[in-house]
Amino acid sequence: MSDPILQVRKVSKYFGGLTALNEVDFEVSRGEVVALLGDNGAGKSTLIKCISGVYRPDHGAVFFDGNEITGHSTSEVRSRGIETIYQDLALAENLDVGANVFLGKEKLKYLFGFIPVTDDDYMRKEAVKVLDRLDIHIPSLRQKLVNLSGGQRQAVAIARAMYWNAQLVIMDEPTAALGVPEQRKVLSLIRSLREQSIPVILISHTMQDVMTVADRIVIMRRGNVAANVMRSDATEELIVKHIVGSVEAGE
Ligand SMILES: Nc1ncnc2c1ncn2[C@@H]1O[C@H](COP(=O)(O)OP(=O)(O)O)[C@@H](O)[C@H]1O
Ligand SMILES: [Mg+2]
Repeated sequence: MSDPILQVRKVSKYFGGLTALNEVDFEVSRGEVVALLGDNGAGKSTLIKCISGVYRPDHGAVFFDGNEITGHSTSEVRSRGIETIYQDLALAENLDVGANVFLGKEKLKYLFGFIPVTDDDYMRKEAVKVLDRLDIHIPSLRQKLVNLSGGQRQAVAIARAMYWNAQLVIMDEPTAALGVPEQRKVLSLIRSLREQSIPVILISHTMQDVMTVADRIVIMRRGNVAANVMRSDATEELIVKHIVGSVEAGE
């Protein structure tokens, strides 16, 4: 495996008396799609929140591209190139596609040289470029997000990550709320990120998605990493055994 771009070293996280993460080690290399699996409450979301800056780990450290980012804020983590796409997506429903790609980093122009207004044409043009790169076609970029399908919104969130040069994309259950054709689109977006050497951490309950796109599968159980298997060595049966904790010694 090439040098990891992300290293999580012995990270623990407690909520009161509950150990959500217990000295978790986790790595991701460039261009790798890593699926994170585990039952509800296994600690998947807590782990990615310790990476994305939502939570500060109680112990351990997180390194990205050679720098320690433990305990950095979500905006500091984003500025280093880690984009996290949560299930609720954090998009602005009442703005159009261009404005959403630029959300929080809007491009301004100056009327009469001094009145700042958002440069909507520029933002739409830039959005089209990145959507084209991802082979995503949204009929009207003037549509407000609220009028787009779940898959199109997912595409906008991914386009935003790409536009700002994400170095790592984390997706927490991206296909959970989507229809089948849109799920396929998200999977093909994940592949196109990998083709551009952008690693992806994918949390999913859908075994088939995982078996289709992952290069490596990390299974969590009760706050621990229960298994770390290459896709080529994985069977659905073995994965399920790891998820429920019924793997025989030596297997
Ligand atoms: N903010 C929180 N406050 C208290 N307990 C939490 C919080 N977030 C997660 N937990 C607990 O931590 C454990 C791991 O949760 P989570 O990381 O969400 O699991 P997963 O994403 O694998 O379903 C669970 O027992 C959950 O109830
Ligand atoms: Mg979760």
